[in-house]
This record gives sequence, structure tokens and C-alpha cells, in this order.
Amino acid sequence: MQRFVAIIAGGLICLLAVAAIYINTFLPRTASPSDIEIVSTPVLVERGRYLVEHLILCNDCHSERDWTLYGGPPMPPIGAGRACMTRQTEVAGIMTSEANFPGILCIRNITSDKETGIGDWTDGEIIRSMREGVGKDGRALFPIMPYFIFKDISDEDSAAIVAYMRALPPVHAERPQREIDFPMNVLIRFWPQPLTEPVLTPDRAESIAYGRYLSAIGRCSFCHTPRTGRGIAGIPGREFAGGVPFAIGARIMYSKNLTPHASGIGNWTREAFVARFKAYSEPLTVAPEDNTLMDWNAYAGMTEADLGAIYDYLRSLPPVEFEKQEL
Ligand code: HEC
Ligand code: HEC
Repeated sequence: MQRFVAIIAGGLICLLAVAAIYINTFLPRTASPSDIEIVSTPVLVERGRYLVEHLILCNDCHSERDWTLYGGPPMPPIGAGRACMTRQTEVAGIMTSEANFPGILCIRNITSDKETGIGDWTDGEIIRSMREGVGKDGRALFPIMPYFIFKDISDEDSAAIVAYMRALPPVHAERPQREIDFPMNVLIRFWPQPLTEPVLTPDRAESIAYGRYLSAIGRCSFCHTPRTGRGIAGIPGREFAGGVPFAIGARIMYSKNLTPHASGIGNWTREAFVARFKAYSEPLTVAPEDNTLMDWNAYAGMTEADLGAIYDYLRSLPPVEFEKQEL
């Protein structure tokens, strides 16, 4: 009997050793960064600025947010990162409040400072981290960095984003290295996926396809589609149906239904949809209890054509009734 137990235990140890070697050697899956050298032009920088400031909102994470204003726009120094999440903090709007963070994670400085930011990264390394989830050093990024969404940002738009990031003033802001607890430090290595094909920007004349693209990379889909537990895949059949709980301090708010159901945007015209966004073109002061996580002021800077394309896409979805998801 004892011998039997010893054999089983020995076998298990071997299996674990093989698993550890596999994880350390082969994960995260990654490919060499492309050796692209982006030639910056004012048009490219402007496209990047538009995408980052009004649609993708990188700096809503990579800066502190000003919660005295509606939607919590990013505060200067823009792009220089923010205070670390720790085992004690509850992170409003990034994760739901019941769990403290499994370790220490600092949202990094992504300005072009050479020492503390990404000034010495190549263009290919920046694009790889954004879309494929591995840092310059090849480590798997923690998936609060939404690379699994940004994989859809086209090659052309990725180049524009990098051109814009490089055009911003560098800010010196040291953010400590992360420490992720077991087993999360192992699990996150399974997620990154190298891109194997070119990613094209859909034709703007195809309003629905272009609207689908904008609402994916603008993370509308992420916040407005319920998921199971902490997973990243949406619940099938509930795309854009809202009801996702978010914590702002002690308060819970739910994202709205964006499908053409009566409990969603079923009764909204295209004009009303565009106007709902444009109403927030100027920053508004607000009491904390009336604030929201959706950065309306940033999105208000989208063109009417782009907001209209998002509307056209949302109207093409199957109508789904609103339902609040459990926290
Ligand atoms: C929802 C929050 C969020 C958004 C939005 C976001 N990031 Fe991040 N980003 C993170 C976090 C968290 C990390 C740190 C991950 C880690 O260290 O494991 C990170 C890391 C990075 C890194 C790696 C930095 C380093 O020093 O290793 C780059 C580059 C980056 N982000 C660029 C971007 C760009 C460009 C955008 C917009 C297109 C963006 N991020 C949007 C949360 C976000
Ligand atoms: C960080 C998560 C988040 C992101 C990203 C986000 N939303 Fe929202 N959205 C919410 C929440 C929460 C609400 C409810 C509170 C409010 O109205 O601000 C909401 C409300 C709305 C409403 C109001 C609907 C109503 O019935 O009044 C619309 C329209 C909307 N979102 C569209 C979008 C679009 C389009 C995008 C992408 C460009 C987007 N959202 C991105 C979280 C988000």
C-alpha cells in the first residue's frame, strides 16, 4: 500500500514538473515583434489622437481619473500611469469590488519617457503589447490591459496610435514592478495569442461593419455585454444586452441595454442616439453619487458619422430584454 502511494505521489510530482517546465518554456505564446518603423505624419498623429482620446480611451486607465467631472475624464499627467492596485484596494470600475487584487499591479507609464515609460521600446514592441498582451520583456500582461479587445485594432490604426503616443510629451513617473500571486501569475500566461494575419480597417462606407469595429475597439461591447464570472467571453445571446454590474465606491451601477429591444435603444432614433453623446461635449461637474464609469465627455468628441455607424450596428443586433447580472 505504502509503495502504491509512493508511486502515485512520484507520478504526480513528475507531472507537475513537466507542467512547470511547459509553462515556463512555452507560455505566454508569443511571436517576435514586427520590425515596422512608423513614419509619423500630422495626419497619422491626428488619427491616433482621435482614437485614443475619443474612442479607445487608453488614458482612462493609464492616468488617474477626475471623479469631480461627469464620466471621470483622465487627469494630467496624461498617460503616466496611476497608483498601484494592491491586496487591499478595491478598484472602482476596473474589477468589481468584492475581491481585492491578487497581488500588486501598477498601470504603467506609457509616455515616451525613456527610463520610466516606453521611450526605448520599438514600434513593433508597443503594437505587440497592445494587441498580443506581452511586454517588451516577453512577460504576459495582466488582462486588465484589454489586449484581447485591442487585437481587433487594425494595423493602420495601431500605427496611428503609436505615432500619437510618441508625439505626447514624455513624463518621468516610476511605477513599481508588479507582483502577482499564485495561481493568477500562472493563469495569465495562458491568455496571450500572437496575431497571425493582417488586421484591416473595415470600409467606412459599410456603416454596420464599421460601427461593429468602433464598438469593439471602443470597449462598448466589453462593458455592455455580460460575462460569466471573471471570464472575458460574453454570455452567448446577450451581446450588448447590458446589466453588467460596476462598482463606484460602495455604489453598484449597471450598464444599459444597447440592443434594439424596447428595454434598450428600441425607441431611439439615430439623431437621439448621436445627441445623447453630444450633450456631454463640455465637461460637467457632478456629485460623486451621480457619477458614472462611462466617460461620456471623451466619447462626445466622436464624429457624428462614427456615432451614427455605432448606432447602425447596434440596430442590426437581435433585440434582447434587459436583465441585471449578479455581482
Ligand atoms: C482597462 C484598463 C486599460 C486600458 C483601457 C489600457 N490599458 Fe494598457 N495596461 C493596463 C494595465 C493594467 C497594464 C499593466 C499590465 C501588467 O503590467 O501586467 C497595462 C500595460 C500596458 C503596456 C505595457 C507597459 C509596460 O511597461 O510593460 C502598454 C504599452 C500599454 N498598456 C498600452 C496601452 C495602450 C496603447 C492603450 C490604448 C490603446 C491601453 N494600454 C489601454 C490597463 C489598461
Ligand atoms: C467602462 C464601461 C463602459 C464603457 C466602456 C461604455 N459604457 Fe456605455 N454605459 C456604461 C454604464 C455603467 C452605463 C449606465 C450609466 C450611464 O448612463 O452612464 C452606460 C450607459 C450607456 C448608454 C445610455 C443608455 C440609456 O438607456 O440611457 C448608452 C447609449 C451607452 N452606454 C453606449 C455606449 C457606447 C456606444 C459605448 C462605446 C463607445 C459605451 N457605452 C462604452 C458603461 C460603459
